[in-house]
Amino acid sequence: MNKPIVITMTNHKGGVGKTTTASFAAFYLQKRGYKVLVVDMDMQGQARIYLADDPTTMDYSSLKNGDMVINQAREGIDLIQFGNNAIDLQYAGKTFVAFRKYLKGLDYDFIIVDNPPAYDTNSVMGTGLSDYVVIVSQTQRLSLESIERQLDSIEVAQKKGGSHTKLIGILQTLEDVRSKHDKKVIALAKKLYPEIMFNTVIQHRTKIKDMTYTGITDKLRADRKAIEQYDNFIEELLERIEVNG
Ligand SMILES: Nc1ncnc2c1ncn2[C@@H]1O[C@H](COP(=O)(O)OP(=O)(O)OP(=O)(O)O)[C@@H](O)[C@H]1O
Ligand SMILES: [Mg+2]
Repeated sequence: MNKPIVITMTNHKGGVGKTTTASFAAFYLQKRGYKVLVVDMDMQGQARIYLADDPTTMDYSSLKNGDMVINQAREGIDLIQFGNNAIDLQYAGKTFVAFRKYLKGLDYDFIIVDNPPAYDTNSVMGTGLSDYVVIVSQTQRLSLESIERQLDSIEVAQKKGGSHTKLIGILQTLEDVRSKHDKKVIALAKKLYPEIMFNTVIQHRTKIKDMTYTGITDKLRADRKAIEQYDNFIEELLERIEVNG
């Protein structure tokens, strides 16, 4: 696979952990020595909250690359905020092919795309411009129910010119470890989608939510303990990418 490898975190459902997964994926890829760009397709612009060393003062015009504004979020991780760019107008309502071409021409190892919680132009674009799509799904019956629709929407993007786009897996998130409901959903999900489901299931940890105040950090042992589950996910993801070529 030619670098940069573009991976999109998607689900039409809101609040399932797309932004958190995208941010921790960027964090652990950077820790492995890769150069990472995060493309935030969501107007809420929340990826910077986890990633920017100081999100309140992050400069939105530090570096111009063509029309696209690329900022450094932290050492080794850059960020494009869709919604703050002149280029939005250029791409709005058009196919994602040109935007993909632009991104594939940039000098990064990985580009992580954070999709919005909708089935709209931005989310189709975010899916269709990628090499690999991860469906992020909460460990709840209603989330499981909506997976078929997520699969359909990937097919739509593929038909609209995204023949390069492959589903790489489904990541289950926000598991309440004390809940029998969640355990049942995890078991059923693995039965329904045995090949696609990642073995790693991301548990709910208050430390992770707290990192929306501090930014992602692994300085303390308690931090590492809460977030290393995302490292397991990245390991699995990289293995799958290698197998897919
Ligand atoms: N594993 C986790 N443990 C604890 N809190 C989490 C975890 N994952 C996500 N959260 C929290 O849950 C909320 C929703 O997560 P997030 O913003 O990543 O979801 P999203 O799918 O991107 O939402 P949206 O659809 O609004 O873009 C956030 O407050 C986030 O900090
Ligand atoms: Mg989000």
